[in-house]
Amino acid sequence: MRKTVYLPNAKFSKKAHVSTLSQYKDMYQESIDNPCEFWGNIAKQFHWETPISADKFFSYNFDITKGPIFIKWLEGATTNICYNLLDRNIRNGHGDKIAFYWEGNDPEDYSRLTYRKLLKEVCRFANVLKTRGVTKGDRVAIYMPMILEVVVAMLACCRIGAVHSLVFAGFSSESLGERMFDCKCKVLVTADGAWRGTKLIRLKELCDAGMERCKSLGHEVETCIVVEHLLRLNAAQGCPSNGTEPHTNGDTAKVKMLEGRDVWWHEEMEDAPSSCYPVWMDAEDPLFMLYTSGSTGKPKGVLHTTAGYLLYAATTFKYVFDYRPGDVYWCTADVGWITGHTYVVYGPLACGATSVVFEGTPFHPDNDRYWQVVDKYKVTQFYTAPTAIRALMKFGDEPVQRHSLHTLKVLGSVGEPINPEAWLWYYTRVGHENCSIADTFWQTETGGHVITPLPGCTPMKPGSATFPFFGVLPALLDESGQEVRGPGEGYLVFRRPWPGIMRTLFGNHDRFETTYFSRFPGYYCTGDGARRDEDGYLWVTGRVDDMLNISGHLLSTAEVESVLVEHPLVAEAAVVSRPHPVKGECLYCFVTPNDGVAFASKLSDELKFRVREKIGPFATPEVIQHAPGLPKTRSGKIMRRVLRKIALNDRDIGDISTLADETIVEALFQNRPSDAQS
Ligand code: PRX
Repeated sequence: MRKTVYLPNAKFSKKAHVSTLSQYKDMYQESIDNPCEFWGNIAKQFHWETPISADKFFSYNFDITKGPIFIKWLEGATTNICYNLLDRNIRNGHGDKIAFYWEGNDPEDYSRLTYRKLLKEVCRFANVLKTRGVTKGDRVAIYMPMILEVVVAMLACCRIGAVHSLVFAGFSSESLGERMFDCKCKVLVTADGAWRGTKLIRLKELCDAGMERCKSLGHEVETCIVVEHLLRLNAAQGCPSNGTEPHTNGDTAKVKMLEGRDVWWHEEMEDAPSSCYPVWMDAEDPLFMLYTSGSTGKPKGVLHTTAGYLLYAATTFKYVFDYRPGDVYWCTADVGWITGHTYVVYGPLACGATSVVFEGTPFHPDNDRYWQVVDKYKVTQFYTAPTAIRALMKFGDEPVQRHSLHTLKVLGSVGEPINPEAWLWYYTRVGHENCSIADTFWQTETGGHVITPLPGCTPMKPGSATFPFFGVLPALLDESGQEVRGPGEGYLVFRRPWPGIMRTLFGNHDRFETTYFSRFPGYYCTGDGARRDEDGYLWVTGRVDDMLNISGHLLSTAEVESVLVEHPLVAEAAVVSRPHPVKGECLYCFVTPNDGVAFASKLSDELKFRVREKIGPFATPEVIQHAPGLPKTRSGKIMRRVLRKIALNDRDIGDISTLADETIVEALFQNRPSDAQS
């Protein structure tokens, strides 16, 4: 019989930062009872140009009925994150330590960067940005593959107080353009292109279209800085093994550069000085913004600020991965997502860690690539997403068994609930029952982990993110806003801010207040549901709004519906989420064509293509179903729960007496397309 609770490895526990549950409980209580002392002690390891003042350490309002929502940590203190991540570590004797091992898409492409070299590169690029007119508070968009220049670009922004806004390079040019318009970025940093597996992505072309889109909306990007990535790849490896789209050095020559706007990274860097005095930032000055989907309307520019984010990224990294000097840590997330910000760049560097940055995919050149990389760099902490674990499980145990993986101590999971089967496979096959699994629940908005086990002390239950991190006070609320105490289920909310929580949505504080604080005054509302079991463990059950999570990427059904109805032949569309064995969830779309228009597979293909083009490849719908009509109540509201049942071919649809036309439900069951059979 399966166990329900798994204990951390005893030998590992003994040496861990937090070894026992009672130690965790004491530290947690201290963080709640005396937040200023708790975080004040942590802050001592960092450099503050203007010292921290005890009386302005922490203030906030979470109750919208009492006035505007605000959150302030360490007000009045000044610092610079880049200085803390690089100069401080170098001063502490870590200049020659490897900050990053870079592993390219092709196993033959790899490099490394020490803290000292990274600082030099960052300073040079900071000077390049300055020459291009970037000053404190300006926004810089970054649309890059997983190469070390992306870290250099981010930290160069921090150095001079510019606000970086990364856009995941899997987003379409249209999404990029709209995000650049929203943040009014002065500069865009990108690369000529990149290989993902055997696929060549021509990033600069996407940027050209993105900048066009941005211009058409009314904002012009002044400078586009392009890393020549394809050219410098070892020519032999540039040509993928399966022979598709052979890459030659000539490819770079094909990149079109617009005179006066587009410049090459290496040319700009050539004469740039390798020192740059940091701009001292107020604790609450913006650090970066990052877009995330909203359940209505356009994406939200989540804004994080300086001091609190630094403290939180460093502290969660140290405790959740139990990081110690000598470890080699690897987070597989792309920097275009929050996981890449906090746990590829900021957290590890704040702790002086050595990490791996990986450009490729888990399947290239073979399905054992992750495990090959773990052994190659002797990785001790590995952090990935359930969707990747499920995809790899499909290939069986053999690819994992080809590798020793004996250096691993902690295995992290992030992005969506991890199903117990995937958890157990990860635990037994990858971790050989020796590693703790850290199922970390958090969001772009929370800045860092908020509900998570600590690997040395928390007894694990597969599928549960367990307990709150230091400083985090979760609660479950019922529909009426009453707290559910003890075992039960409800809306997952937080009662007070921790240092790393976002401060606002860029340029839209009203939306920030209504999205997160209006449903339950006094609480930050995550938009997720959760259950608390009889042992106090928290189990996040998923979104309670119209958002869905495809392979760990959050998306709103409204966003997809608006793309579908833009098609001239479409009258109406309704999109629901359906469980997917690898992606977690996928898009199931009901589409009603205009009167007199026949629904053909061509339309279905066109619609899939449109969503791909407008949002990005990860958002491609799984199923497009013809809907002669949609199940609506008499007041015209679409009954999505009925659509979700149809998507599943589950006839247990419950009460539909409030529908204006009940017959439509049967018609939709009959109309399920052949590719919908799950
Ligand atoms: O629904 C939750 C899910 O991902 C959402 C946040 O997505 P995003 O802002 O893109 O950040 C993802 C990386 C932090 C959450 O609202 N989610 C994330 N981690 C977990 C999770 N759901 C369950 N368990 C998790 N460990």
